[in-house]
Amino acid sequence: MKKVLVTGATGQIGSELTTALREKLGMENVIAAGHKKTPEQRFIDSGPFHCLDVNRIETIAALVERYKVDTIYHLAAILSATAEKNPQLGWHINVDGLCNVLEIAREYKCAVFTPSSIGVFGAETPKDNTPQDTIQRPSTIYGISKVTGELLCDYYFTKYGVDTRGVRYPGLISYKTPPGGGTTDYAVEIYFEAVKNRKYTCYLKPETYLDLMYMPDAVKAAIDIMTADPETIRHRNAYNVSSMSLTPEIITASIKKIIPDFSIDYKIDPLRQAIADSWPNKMEDRVAREEWGWMPDYDLDAMTEDMIRNISQSR
Ligand code: SER
Repeated sequence: MKKVLVTGATGQIGSELTTALREKLGMENVIAAGHKKTPEQRFIDSGPFHCLDVNRIETIAALVERYKVDTIYHLAAILSATAEKNPQLGWHINVDGLCNVLEIAREYKCAVFTPSSIGVFGAETPKDNTPQDTIQRPSTIYGISKVTGELLCDYYFTKYGVDTRGVRYPGLISYKTPPGGGTTDYAVEIYFEAVKNRKYTCYLKPETYLDLMYMPDAVKAAIDIMTADPETIRHRNAYNVSSMSLTPEIITASIKKIIPDFSIDYKIDPLRQAIADSWPNKMEDRVAREEWGWMPDYDLDAMTEDMIRNISQSR
């Protein structure tokens, strides 16, 4: 991993992963690419930035060729709730876009990281300690596109030897760039609203368990899996990585330790509640721990403290 292209670089994961990769590899060795023609200045100032449409394969090829890219972090994707409202778009970006990246990776011999998700599981999957290898029958187009992505990545590895790797991310919590259109977005909004207004109206029921993770751990997972010894990684696409299993009421209790007058009420969104109910409460990630040493750093209260401090400072 010497020259890296990051697609979706202005997104929730991409904006922080790009920074971490630039610190590790050097600013000029990480090419950020996003779909916005005029991204925020911070993306342009911190290293090479290009506008990229993952559905136009020639634009991916041009960047890979120009910069002699050897590794692609392919993060451009549509999240679950948005995809459910426009399934064709979800498929087009999440699957057709990935096919383009894999074809370019095959041609130019690049390694590829593709994030998978808790969304690959469905109602028939065991909800607690969801195993690495288990039933994957998702009911959302997002989940279907992510299962397809896992299979495509495995296919390109076994058929063409493309070094594809991935992790199944939980819902990700961060303060630098907001997520957009996900089912787990409440777990970000709750912190911003707690600092700003001391109250939050949640669209999921108080007792809805979901796997969640703080962004520094998500960034660490993305870098560690791509630098892991190829001899030891047998599962490749994609590894369960777990950190915290939380509900809105558990997060509320943690916030109240710092902001005692914070209050929450509930107005349930049936679409996102149904999606959340079809996802695991907690994945079991023993295989990632054994095969490449995965280990999260943050627990709930450490994350809450860091989120509230950073959001307060930026106001
Ligand atoms: N955070 C994503 C979503 O809610 C799941 O991977 O769509």
